[in-house]
Amino acid sequence: MSKDTSVLLDEKRLFKPDYHLVEEAHIKNWEAELEKGKDIEKYWEEKAHQFEWFKKWDKVLDESKKPFYQWFVNGKINLCYNAVDRWINTDKRNQVAILYTNERGEEIKLTYYELYREVNKMASALKNLGIKKGDTVSMYLPMCPELLISMLGCTRIGALHSVVYSGLSVGGLVERINDSKAKVLLTADGTYRRGKIIDLKKIADEALLQCPTIETVVLVRHTGNPIKISELSGREILYTTLLEGENELCPVEEMDAEDPLFILYTSGSTGKPKGVLHTTGGYMVGVATTLQNVFDIHNGDLWWCTGDIGWITGHSYLIYGPLLLGTTTLVYEGAPDYPDPGAWWKIVEKYGVTKLYTAPTAIRHLMRYGNKYPQLYDLSSLKILGSVGEPINPEAWMWFYKNVGKEKIPIMDTWWQTETGMHMIAPLPVSPLKPGSPTRALPGIEMDVVDEKGQRVPPGKGGYLVIKKPWPAMLRTLYKEEERYEDTYWKQIPGGVYMAGDMARIDEDGYIWIQGRSDDVLKIAGHRIGTSEVESAFVSHPLVVEAAVIGKSDPIKGQVIKSFLILKEGHKLNTALIEDLQKHVRYEMGPVAVLGEMVQVNKLPKTRSGKIMRRILRAQEEGKDLGDTSTLED
Ligand code: WTA
Repeated sequence: MSKDTSVLLDEKRLFKPDYHLVEEAHIKNWEAELEKGKDIEKYWEEKAHQFEWFKKWDKVLDESKKPFYQWFVNGKINLCYNAVDRWINTDKRNQVAILYTNERGEEIKLTYYELYREVNKMASALKNLGIKKGDTVSMYLPMCPELLISMLGCTRIGALHSVVYSGLSVGGLVERINDSKAKVLLTADGTYRRGKIIDLKKIADEALLQCPTIETVVLVRHTGNPIKISELSGREILYTTLLEGENELCPVEEMDAEDPLFILYTSGSTGKPKGVLHTTGGYMVGVATTLQNVFDIHNGDLWWCTGDIGWITGHSYLIYGPLLLGTTTLVYEGAPDYPDPGAWWKIVEKYGVTKLYTAPTAIRHLMRYGNKYPQLYDLSSLKILGSVGEPINPEAWMWFYKNVGKEKIPIMDTWWQTETGMHMIAPLPVSPLKPGSPTRALPGIEMDVVDEKGQRVPPGKGGYLVIKKPWPAMLRTLYKEEERYEDTYWKQIPGGVYMAGDMARIDEDGYIWIQGRSDDVLKIAGHRIGTSEVESAFVSHPLVVEAAVIGKSDPIKGQVIKSFLILKEGHKLNTALIEDLQKHVRYEMGPVAVLGEMVQVNKLPKTRSGKIMRRILRAQEEGKDLGDTSTLED
């Protein structure tokens, strides 16, 4: 649990929606919409009609094989068709679909029609590479238009994409490519990060030494960074060469609603990353509906989600949600404070961003620079703000509300996960807000806070956050790990409910307050990282015998990693070794693993069966009672 959440217990402020906002909103009555959402099947069925289906479903929800739920059974649809082709014959044809910009101020705009052309070329090219429906394509790319085009290209022909966050490194990339058995990898000559270029091709080259399934590497020239193209292997091709002469329109594949759409790897508390599998029909319905409900998308909106495409936030709300609603999505490659801490506000002013969706860690980061920077720019185009990824502390909420929203516009704090695919707990623009609470489960969603027996806990008391009814964009399984899927999510708490892995409490008004993870998953600057992944990175260093890591509260990043290390006999944790370990873990995991303090220990607290009890380390760290120690080894 992050330290900040204790203050949430005293948070009593209530912010009512602005009158203009209610006038404009598609949904004017929160309670009535929640009431409508109680008939879950009817609610989601109505929402499914917004799309063009090749064939409508026979049944909305099939629960016969739970927890392997099926939505829109026997429906036939294609995501790419609905996100791109559908707009070509409307007045959105020449509207900008993707507006790319970066920390250097460069810009690329693609209208829906231009996007349509590019996606067709990409889909044809993938087919020519031998990619068929059901195959997997890995992508290790910066936030660039080619990434969006390639993802859409995959969905057009029914191939699955597996996007690997560009901040991960060799270890993470190898694991993800091999687990998904991808045949093609797309990567680039680099990505911009605070004035520097990170050479992605170099990392990919090292990873590929251990990835036997990759037949073709497609290379995007993005930064102009000089790179070696290895002609010897014969498997590397430039993106531009691949698409050259591909003018053919590529027919869309008719997908079953339950055909796999993509795999996205995320961290659990133990073992290797989990390949979260999402399928087609339900995901589309869930993502488009929640974006519409929570951010009240209108014609003329300019939507900016600052999340990275390499995580679920980018998949659902940077690409698919906005394009399925036919809005313009802004793609920004760069840091919030580079070249200066006004970088984001400058973009809002320049383009007239109307809806801005970001993360608490970014807000806290920008807060550090004071109120000056947002005041330098005209932010009056903004109508709704959003937050995702970790609990937003009231202080950050208030700063965002006052300095960016000018006390006029609401903040949609959205709780959800890679697994849920879509927002689950969030307000609507017309909801009264309490800083630090994502309010209530959305219409069409049923959630609760329960004890380990599955009994609802009384108001104000902490418990496990659970989802009580299936929802359309839910993960369908963990890729090739069905048992792990059942065990991790559905068997932890009695009653056939989905255990989210978060602790929460519900207040007297029914508002949910998220208290943090109940397991060993870390949230570092919003990135989800498993303790066991960091520990294996440590242990792969020749001088580390054993490692245990925990999350330690950090005022800006939310958490950083504190490590307890047992070293090889006769070695001391001196400055040189600390530096070497930092380099080593960074090489394995990438910059996402932010290492704080390291300490050398002789022993780690373990259960008799040998599992590290991180709980004990955490309690010790926070000066808390050690709790039940009866299972401790000695
Ligand atoms: C946390 C990110 C509090 C939570 C979309 C969850 C949040 C995990 C919020 C999923 C929020 C996400 N308030 N906590 N608004 N949003 N979380 O899979 O612990 O990267 O379980 O998905 O982030 O992280 P993931």
